[in-house]
Amino acid sequence: MTSTVPIIAPSILAADFARLGDEVRAVDQAGCDWIHLDVMDGHFVPNITFGPAVVSALRPLTDKVLDAHLMIAPCDPYLEAFAKAGADIITVHAEAGPHLHRSLMAIKALGKRAGVSLNPATPAAIVAEVLDLLDLVLVMTVNPGFGGQSFIESQLEKIAQIKQMIGVRPITLQVDGGITPETAPRVVQAGANALVAGSSIFNAGSADSPEGYRAAITALRAAAQA
Ligand code: DX5
Ligand code: ZN
Repeated sequence: MTSTVPIIAPSILAADFARLGDEVRAVDQAGCDWIHLDVMDGHFVPNITFGPAVVSALRPLTDKVLDAHLMIAPCDPYLEAFAKAGADIITVHAEAGPHLHRSLMAIKALGKRAGVSLNPATPAAIVAEVLDLLDLVLVMTVNPGFGGQSFIESQLEKIAQIKQMIGVRPITLQVDGGITPETAPRVVQAGANALVAGSSIFNAGSADSPEGYRAAITALRAAAQA
């Protein structure tokens, strides 16, 4: 929680799935910091995306941090597969099961950075009980499941509460959903230091014209620091 330049993590949920490898290379070359991977199971969230095999296929294409956001329940049976696939950060949802502490312990035991994500209706307080295990907290600023939704204003207060709970600990405070050059400065002001963005990056270009991606990433970073 010391960096003033926020981490920008494009979410490939908004990429062209027929050209996923080219899309990852394009945002990498366009200067992103991490690659955000939205894993959905059609059970915890009402949409289905991809699993460890796709993460494994993307791993050799980039040296950037692979940031796996698991919107799956249960998550525990799949943690090892995502670790072996090459995810660097594995984030699970607090609402995905009764044993958040156990899931985070399992991620740490696999040698990965551990994150917890909170749905919009989940209170900040849950984070306090697992702070010692966390490398990242992800505040959802939309209901998970789909890209292109509107930012939920009420989450700004939650971001600020969690920022206070984190204090000086080296825990990344990430936000995901509806992040644009308009909302980015507000979440950063509240305390976020890592921004996930799907539509606002991938709608700005294509794998063939990554200069659009570069402009979108630069605009987000600039807006966040303004
Ligand atoms: C939503 C995903 C997000 C999504 C964000 O469930 O977790 O990562 O891709 O998309 P935008 O940036 O379009 O709101
Ligand atoms: Zn996500």
